[in-house]
Amino acid sequence: MPLDFEHLMGDYHGCYGAALDAGQAYLRASAQAALLKRVGTTVNEVPAPVCPDKRWFQRSYGRCVTDAPEDLLIGEGLFYLTEQRKLFLDCTAGHYQMTWGYDHPELTALLRDGIERGIVWDNHSNIPSAPVKRLTEKLVMLATPGRSLDELQDDPASLNTVLAGVATGSVACAAAMKMMLLHHSGAGEPAFVVLDGNYHGTDLFAQRLRGMWPDIFCNVKVVAVQPNDPEELCAVFAEHGENVAGFWAEPVMMNREAILVQPGYLHLARELCDENGALMAVDEIQTGFWFPEVIYCARIGLQPDFVVLGKGMTAGFHPLAALVYRGKLDVLEQYDAISTNGNAALAALVALGCIALIERNAREIERIGRAWHRAMEEIAAEFADRLVEARGIGHMSGLKFRDREDCLSFHRRAVERGLWLRAHAYHEGHSTVLTKFALPMGERAVDWTAEALRGLLRERR
Ligand SMILES: Cc1ncc(COP(=O)(O)O)c(C=O)c1O
Repeated sequence: MPLDFEHLMGDYHGCYGAALDAGQAYLRASAQAALLKRVGTTVNEVPAPVCPDKRWFQRSYGRCVTDAPEDLLIGEGLFYLTEQRKLFLDCTAGHYQMTWGYDHPELTALLRDGIERGIVWDNHSNIPSAPVKRLTEKLVMLATPGRSLDELQDDPASLNTVLAGVATGSVACAAAMKMMLLHHSGAGEPAFVVLDGNYHGTDLFAQRLRGMWPDIFCNVKVVAVQPNDPEELCAVFAEHGENVAGFWAEPVMMNREAILVQPGYLHLARELCDENGALMAVDEIQTGFWFPEVIYCARIGLQPDFVVLGKGMTAGFHPLAALVYRGKLDVLEQYDAISTNGNAALAALVALGCIALIERNAREIERIGRAWHRAMEEIAAEFADRLVEARGIGHMSGLKFRDREDCLSFHRRAVERGLWLRAHAYHEGHSTVLTKFALPMGERAVDWTAEALRGLLRERR
């Protein structure tokens, strides 16, 4: 049996294949202005596909059989079509990981070129290939701009070591947590100081840091503090002193209502860690690869002990994450922190392409990020009766609603309108709608989306 699309997709191939072809042709041939006009409508030029359903999925992943699922059919840039052929503007870059939107032409060409040249998909991490090694070099340079590689290599206190053999952010975070535990030398139980509402992946211990499994772990303390409360942070370090094993923060809390953690607060945490012999980890799974400086810590002049990178690094091409850390902390053995499919050469090549695109478009990224955040602030001011404030920074932002039900209703109507954005309104006190636009967002998309949000806010709830 040939290994081709028709056989692999079985009975679905005809309808699905035709819809894919037509969907791709439609998205590629349409100018952005034309696509924006049609957001939220059905694109009848594309034939209706017949696709498999989700009956075998786990419940939390939407296991169901429905007549008309709005699952993704095909994407291009900032847009995607669903199986119902409804056109969506993706305001969240996939699930915050498609840095350059869907199917970026240059990254796709790079990928094809890499395959043609014989770059392997993956291999044993003891024999890493050139793209993976080149990526580690690049990440070290980006984490500490302004210093030469030779200088960094000779300085074990610098961020000169990269754990590149990890496929997901969760494993990269877990590696840093293990190093913190091994480094801890206080007389008492190690304490992890974390921000309330943190999310550092789905590893068991990472989940403990966000309050799960309280009875399972012993001999370790988890102390949650409120972001941007320097007094509380000082008090916690004063109380736990040398027993603080580590401090964890996400610079923009994309898992808690897009709260921007103030750079001054992060620098204070750095000082407190130094004074108490604790280690500092900045989880840049969300912020990494979304700013002109590539690594957000470099933007704010911060040198934590660990920078966790993932998600957007490969612009959504699986699988690769990375942990950049100080050489002197390099105490784990190979199989203490690894994903056996995390040495992916093709993914590393795409990551290098993603970084090159950021460097080439740095000024535009800064400009559009500012324009988008300004638009969100203006909206928050105009609808102050319904909105508390705009949150986040650059392409990552949140609109905090006064009322949770209002937030949920807004989110529902936005999705009906064809705007794919997220809502954090399922925890006590949470009522924020989030966006994290892919970097190709231009001025037109900024203006159009801001107007669309205004239109939804003007509607009655
Ligand atoms: C801040 C943060 N840390 C860690 C993770 C976990 O990364 P992964 O899903 O690749 O394991 C995520 C995922 O969304 C994240 O947003």
